[in-house]
Amino acid sequence: ASVFPFYGAHQAGITTPAQDRLHFAVFDPDPGLDREGLIGLLSDWTAAAARLSQGLEVAEGGAVGGSDYAPPADTGEALGLPASGLTITFGFGPEVFETADGGDPFGLAARRPPELVALPRFQGDALEPARTGGALCIQACADDPQVAVHAIRNLSRIAFGRATLRWSQLGFGRTSSTSTAQATPRNLFGFKDGTANIKAEEPGVADEHVWVQPGDEPAWLAGGSYLVARRIRMVIENWDRVQLGEQEQLVGRSKGEGAPLSGGTEFTEPDFEAAGPTGAPLIDPASHVRLAHPSVNGGARLLRRGYNFVDGNDALGRLDAGLFFLSFQRSPEQFVRVQTSLAADGLNEYLKHVGSAIFAVPGGVAVGEFVGQRLF
Ligand code: HEM
Repeated sequence: ASVFPFYGAHQAGITTPAQDRLHFAVFDPDPGLDREGLIGLLSDWTAAAARLSQGLEVAEGGAVGGSDYAPPADTGEALGLPASGLTITFGFGPEVFETADGGDPFGLAARRPPELVALPRFQGDALEPARTGGALCIQACADDPQVAVHAIRNLSRIAFGRATLRWSQLGFGRTSSTSTAQATPRNLFGFKDGTANIKAEEPGVADEHVWVQPGDEPAWLAGGSYLVARRIRMVIENWDRVQLGEQEQLVGRSKGEGAPLSGGTEFTEPDFEAAGPTGAPLIDPASHVRLAHPSVNGGARLLRRGYNFVDGNDALGRLDAGLFFLSFQRSPEQFVRVQTSLAADGLNEYLKHVGSAIFAVPGGVAVGEFVGQRLF
């Protein structure tokens, strides 16, 4: 079973090979939390996350080693389970720097990254306030769902009286590979997802497209990234009535191999000029792969790290299912550019964006520091 280091130049859970399971949680500070209180919370979260990601209980004493007369330090459901590749990644939303009523409870307004603003409204957005925005995020990824849930549960418990869970999302079946060593998984449309993703092994690519660089604004965010989260509902029942050939045209790739419809195998670059016998392009200009491709987006690339979700069903008997899209990028502008281009995407007929959030993910944590320390 894998164990990833918590401390390092970058936070884990970004270029780390994508694990199978996700528990993503967004918190709001409780009224009355001040700057010292926030620093205290981040320090406690850091200490806990460093232990949890090594497969340890959340604190000394753990689930059963403490006093019989006190609630246990650890909730216990991960006793006996290995680290399972757990990574815990923290981010700051716009509301850390300015509350909804214009307040600045942490004295951080002047430190706000200029680009950390709520995403613009995109065509077709049907955002639900209860799944949108938030001040602090924690992404817990692991190969065992119980380990990811245990992490979020214990971190929520530590926040008691200081910050409250606003919304959260469970995910399974990673929809991206972030390492060339991983096979490409499939999303709930049945297509391989992550083929053309940024991979950890590509030299220089993460520096150019994922990590905020020294010299970028603001300096405290160097080594960090911006995280975009979108809860995208899939209208699966309609999709399942679409002919195979049309499904492939909408994506721009074959369903089995994941090869571009211009030919070749999974990792062949798509050729948007290639035309069939009738002269029509083999890859539909309105296909997802073309509209998301860097060549039509000024070179913009994203590190996608999303998960499938199925959260039961609605009153009409339709699955509440889709893709919990997560992407990391050096600037939010990269996501905005691609998502704006996707306004013409034929897939949109089968998609509904119902949740959205953006976070500045601070750089890695050094031993003895708390996460985000350079912000303060
Ligand atoms: C590629 C599906 C949403 C950006 C792909 C591929 C599939 C896919 C099957 C081709 C394989 C691959 O390279 O990974 C989906 C589905 C979505 C969705 C089902 C919604 C539920 C999004 C969103 C964005 C996005 C919201 C960003 C705004 C990309 C990018 C590529 C891609 C950048 C790679 C294009 C390339 O360089 O070839 N997607 N996607 N996708 N998608 Fe999506």
